[in-house]
Amino acid sequence: MTTEHKKAKTIAIDGPAAAGKSSVGLALAQRLAYLFFDTGVMYRAITLLALEQGISMEDEDALGILAETTTIDVQPPTGYNDGRYYTVLVDSRDSTWALRTPEVDANVSYVAAHPRVRLALTAQQRRIGQRGRVVMVGRDIGTVVMPDADVKFYLDASLEERARRRYNELVARGQSTDYEAILADLRERDRLDSTRAMAPLRRAADAIYVDTTGLSRDEVVEYLLGLLQAREEVSSS
Ligand code: DC
Repeated sequence: MTTEHKKAKTIAIDGPAAAGKSSVGLALAQRLAYLFFDTGVMYRAITLLALEQGISMEDEDALGILAETTTIDVQPPTGYNDGRYYTVLVDSRDSTWALRTPEVDANVSYVAAHPRVRLALTAQQRRIGQRGRVVMVGRDIGTVVMPDADVKFYLDASLEERARRRYNELVARGQSTDYEAILADLRERDRLDSTRAMAPLRRAADAIYVDTTGLSRDEVVEYLLGLLQAREEVSSS
């Protein structure tokens, strides 16, 4: 036995939309006292600005310039009691909930497909990841942003369960919504996210696949913590 502890310093969580990555990632980060970084907010921030400024979702150069010049800051949710996981400042403006509208949902996959946008945002994500003690959540964290992450999880759930979760989230926030529309939107985002040419959604070869269908957030978090613990014990024996 050695006494050396092999704690995972960088944890990547990837998976399709509404698989529970954010709620699980946040809870896991809190339990480990790590930074929680939901990289989807960066693509959402650029999408929000493009919608506000009337920039086409096809205009790679204009979107790339936005990604290269916008300051996106993610802070703890301190001071708010509205269910937010974090506060997102886009060029100093609190845009946390504006990033979650159906309009942003419907357009973000187009923005995220542009290589120039991805290059700019990936560079920022990597800088944050390299500091360690981070749970980073997205689509390409284990494959592109942090291919050397200590532990990689790939969270999945059936399309219907993901649509149900997203529906319940929106209802809980008092937004009017339609289950069939959410289902169709998720199906389309899955298609766009996994078929784009650059950094498509896919499971890294060394990622642990976790099917969360039928599991609560807390059950998933306990399961992941158990896997992390088991890994530590193996590495210190
Ligand atoms: O996780 P989310 O729903 O907030 O992500 C929004 C969009 O951003 C998603 O449709 C794909 C894209 N995304 C990405 O391409 N790469 C990431 N690392 C995170 C999100």
